[in-house]
Amino acid sequence: MSIAEQYDASSDAKDARLNIDGESADLPIRKGTLGPDVVDVTSLYRQTNNFTFDPGFTSTASCESKITFIDGDEGVLLYRGYPIDQLAETGKFLETCYLLLYGELPTKAQFDDFSTRIAYHTMVHEQMSQFFTGFRRDAHPMAVMVGVVGALSAFYHDSTDIRDPEQREMASIRMLAKMPTIAAMAYKYSIGQPFIYPQNHLDYSANFLNMCFAVPCEPYKVDPVLSRAMDRIFILHADHEQNASTSTVRLAGSSGANPFACISAGIACLWGPAHGGANEAALTMLQRIGTVDRIPEFIARAKDKNDPFRLMGFGHRVYKNYDPRAKIMQKTCHEVLEAVGHGDDPTLKVALELEHIALNDDYFIEKKLYPNIDFYSGITLRALGFPTEMFTVLFAIARTVGWIAQWKEMIEDPYQRIGRPRQLYTGPTERSYIPMDERG
Ligand code: CMC
Repeated sequence: MSIAEQYDASSDAKDARLNIDGESADLPIRKGTLGPDVVDVTSLYRQTNNFTFDPGFTSTASCESKITFIDGDEGVLLYRGYPIDQLAETGKFLETCYLLLYGELPTKAQFDDFSTRIAYHTMVHEQMSQFFTGFRRDAHPMAVMVGVVGALSAFYHDSTDIRDPEQREMASIRMLAKMPTIAAMAYKYSIGQPFIYPQNHLDYSANFLNMCFAVPCEPYKVDPVLSRAMDRIFILHADHEQNASTSTVRLAGSSGANPFACISAGIACLWGPAHGGANEAALTMLQRIGTVDRIPEFIARAKDKNDPFRLMGFGHRVYKNYDPRAKIMQKTCHEVLEAVGHGDDPTLKVALELEHIALNDDYFIEKKLYPNIDFYSGITLRALGFPTEMFTVLFAIARTVGWIAQWKEMIEDPYQRIGRPRQLYTGPTERSYIPMDERG
């Protein structure tokens, strides 16, 4: 049975009827557990010889998924049904990872077993360290991440057969475990310090901070307030349904590519300033604004149609209400700044005032532009001690679990096919080749 027929069979009785040039096509409407219904257009081409056209996927559900739900109008984000604020307030990042990967919150025994499995895979093959020395010291760490994570498939051949469930599981654990190690190595390399090996007695986030900020010549103790904040930031970024990088991972994976290569593709996509790069851009913007009295000038520029400037950290393709992650990030930002003794940080003052002004401005109200998670994350990450180039890398560590969960869901779907979009062709019609010496 084809995918289209299978979907026809499982759809609700209600159909949408589309009329094209007097011919009609009946398209099944499918219902999810939450969110808008979808018109299943898989049979449209067969029935009418037409494609649908939706370049930015603004009205297109690219897949069926049970992992994450967003209601952008209400500002709701659920991982496997659990609200993001509940998970971030009280849960641990590895608990969220377990939830995203396996569908349920772990029992204590399951959590301990999962944490141990992760801890025992945090080291990377010793030869991988030589990879780093091939990069310039001033390389952007995201460039290093794309290369080194992609290279994992050259080191761990025994977990690249995607048809084998045990290898898929092993690749998932390895990705989750090694990502912080690789990220910390990229950071250490960029500042010319020796790599710090992972410590199994530390939890996921504390271990990451230790690998970033410890040095071999003196003891270093991770501040529990900071490791808790790091953990919460990872939870907030863990998954976000079919965003650009996740869709990239799914598309790359749909051809049967190995998971390490797919995650590397996701990292490349995340790097863009409209996606994961926005936290860096938001902090840069807040620093450029500098003082509260300059805010009106920047608000005016953001509203000016002839000026390409946008308020970074504002607006979202899906959230047309306050990004629920931004609220928790704002709170975490205050906690971290207090803990590091920067409670009166001038950038935070600018951010709070800018948020206040924008939220009361007709332009932003009408366009439903609210702060997104990136508005406060840059200030927070800087206070944790990271340079701006590392911000997107931290996002990549957190999002790895979402990418893996979505990739696994796709591979384990028996009706999965290669992703192969079509196009509206507007180029030249067929014409004959002209030899070079005859061209005018
Ligand atoms: N500042 C000023 N105006 C804005 C902004 C902004 N940040 N964002 C959108 N607009 C305006 C835009 O000019 C347009 O106006 P008009 O209808 O008059 O042409 C309208 O709002 C709709 O914008 P859009 O670009 O069509 O919306 P989109 O859904 O394609 O873009 C976005 C979403 C996130 C790319 C965009 O809001 C943006 O560029 N924001 C700044 C970058 C940013 O913070 N990105 C992080 C996203 S959250 C992280 C993640 O989940 O990956």
